[in-house]
Amino acid sequence: MRVLAFIPLVAVLMTAGCVKKIQGVKGSVNKQEFGKTARGEAVDLYILTNKNGVEAAITNYGGIVVRLKTADARGRLADITLGFDTLQGYLGSHPYFGAIIGRYGNRIGKAKFTLDGHEYKLAANNGENSLHGGIYGFDKKVWAAVAESDEQGQRLTLTTQSADGEEGYPGKLDVTVVYTLTDDDELRIDYRATTDKPTVINLTNHTYFNLAGQGSGDVLDTEMTIAADRFTPVDAGLIPTGELRSVEGTPFDFRKPSTIGARIEDGSEQIQLGLGYDHNYVINRTAPGLALAARAVYPKNGRALEVWTTEPGVQFYTGNFLDGKVLGKNLNAYQRRSGFCLETQHFPDSPNRPDFPSTTLRPGAEYRSTTVWKFRSEAIRK
Ligand code: GLA
Repeated sequence: MRVLAFIPLVAVLMTAGCVKKIQGVKGSVNKQEFGKTARGEAVDLYILTNKNGVEAAITNYGGIVVRLKTADARGRLADITLGFDTLQGYLGSHPYFGAIIGRYGNRIGKAKFTLDGHEYKLAANNGENSLHGGIYGFDKKVWAAVAESDEQGQRLTLTTQSADGEEGYPGKLDVTVVYTLTDDDELRIDYRATTDKPTVINLTNHTYFNLAGQGSGDVLDTEMTIAADRFTPVDAGLIPTGELRSVEGTPFDFRKPSTIGARIEDGSEQIQLGLGYDHNYVINRTAPGLALAARAVYPKNGRALEVWTTEPGVQFYTGNFLDGKVLGKNLNAYQRRSGFCLETQHFPDSPNRPDFPSTTLRPGAEYRSTTVWKFRSEAIRK
């Protein structure tokens, strides 16, 4: 067990779970044992806390964000992410709660793609398509972890290597994901990767948010804004048709705040295909760098989340496949639409769509992607 803290002021020894906690005005990083995988690999939980008490608990199993405690308008902290209390839950079957997704977030059509004239076959784990990196994706890897604390914030650096051919993808890939919790109440995720052969890559994080607090019902009353004039309509397998369609006059128009539930059952073709929202939006951007992708607010407690990213797209997914069968934290049965995801990404199926922004990574180049979650609050509206 290691404890890292920047100017620690108070040290408290908690006996339960043998957790030693050092709290400082500048925040702290605590490391505790989280359990072992079926293969016997030891896994830890890193609890990053900032000076305001905002907490991000992240495990090096799958780089999963296990807990995220942020403040509402009254300053009350609540855990806003769906997931499990223990590692055991994450080792079982679950819909990617909080996880880092790789090598390719979202779907690749017919589980294959051609790069430089070679066809690569992937595991079909979603009908005939490949989803979220395949059967043994980055969400199931035990990552090497280093925790640090300095004036930039509390930082967890996760690294892993993916072998040439893993899950069918070419190239030995070295990957680094850095989570930084700042005193500005932001969790920044920096993704980096290099390869020794041409490959494709699309990393993201699959956290499910509920701004009322996880386990407190559906997210239909949450107000969503998505900074996108266009989205990528899909076919029955949720593979983009290739069209970049205007959101104008459709239930996909979130350019002005709208509750998630207002149009989610409107019966239009794309809503039916997604069983709700499960679509990639083309983020409006005027320059490279971080752009606002989306803003969500729960009007009844004023808790807000902004998602900024360097990526061209964001998958807005409203937990349509949650069905109450997964028992999560405090034995909460996560029902349909009890969380939403904003998965920043390149567009789905890009390896088969030369007209989409490229997901190709070549030797000598570095894959770089950054997403920032800004935890905010605003006046309560009843
Ligand atoms: C993504 C997909 C959804 C679903 C979830 C996991 O968000 O877009 O269709 O597969 O992952 O359940």
